Amino acid sequence: MDNPSSKEATYECRAKVNLILKVVAKRRDGYHDIDSLMCTVDLADKVTFRWGGPGVSLTCSDRSLEGEANLAWKAAGLFLDAFGIDEGASIHIEKKIPVAAGLAGGSSDAACALNALASRYAPDVNPDVLSRLALEVGSDVPYLLSGGPARVRGRGEIVEPVARSAREALGALDLVAVTPAIEVRSSLAYESLGMGLTEEGEKASILGLDSAIADRYSLAGALENDLERGVSERFPVVRALKSGMMDMGALGAVMSGSGPTVLAIVENRAQAERMAERLAAEGHAAFALRTTDSAHSARE
Ligand code: C5P
Repeated sequence: MDNPSSKEATYECRAKVNLILKVVAKRRDGYHDIDSLMCTVDLADKVTFRWGGPGVSLTCSDRSLEGEANLAWKAAGLFLDAFGIDEGASIHIEKKIPVAAGLAGGSSDAACALNALASRYAPDVNPDVLSRLALEVGSDVPYLLSGGPARVRGRGEIVEPVARSAREALGALDLVAVTPAIEVRSSLAYESLGMGLTEEGEKASILGLDSAIADRYSLAGALENDLERGVSERFPVVRALKSGMMDMGALGAVMSGSGPTVLAIVENRAQAERMAERLAAEGHAAFALRTTDSAHSARE
């Protein structure tokens, strides 16, 4: 991922979307077990790491995201501590992915920080060790160490790439994402489910995943998010955007993650661009997107 002799490395850190999100059970640690079909998409932050200096520092094109609360800072700090490394890193993020939107932008930046540090300081690290550090940073971070179409379970740490046939159906899938200008805290989205600890898991998990993702049409019919109802009751704009996208000809639409971003599957790139333009003209942040086969790529 990185040339060890270079002083800096830049990556694209891509957003994730949930095409299916089932909440299976409430756990004793306060989190929920999920069963989710996730993909990464070509909406990306640009993140540069400069090696050297003491400790971690971080700057961002959005100044409100600077400082130790940034997940990339947290990830880098955890990694340097865990591996006892004295050299530091300064991180700069050009933010493109909407914040607190259900697109896991901060988690992708953090996963990239772990990968970049691992390739520089611990190229033979056991992937399970990296995944455990990732989970300490956040539930979406283990998946974003790799990205691509995957089924994600547990709190987010059980990541299985989908079968080859499904991978084909999910590759270069045309999508539109629209993010209304509201902030939804993930904890609130999960709390609004009001799940008890005794809830039984098995029956809520994804059934027939392979047939659900035979092609874009069957996938469009299978889109589902257990968090959507609670969030759209509180924020009716989510429901309005979803039906607006269906009226514009989407094959299917669903809220991503804990929202408020709404995602639609469309026929082709031209339709994605037309729909994104119309939504942008209505004043929303809207994107024509394609799925990608990995979370990060070296930029330069
Ligand atoms: O792990 P992360 O910091 O992204 O989670 C934010 C919040 O979302 C958690 O504090 C929890 O309330 C909720 N959450 C959950 N179960 C998950 C992921 C997130 O309950 N699997």
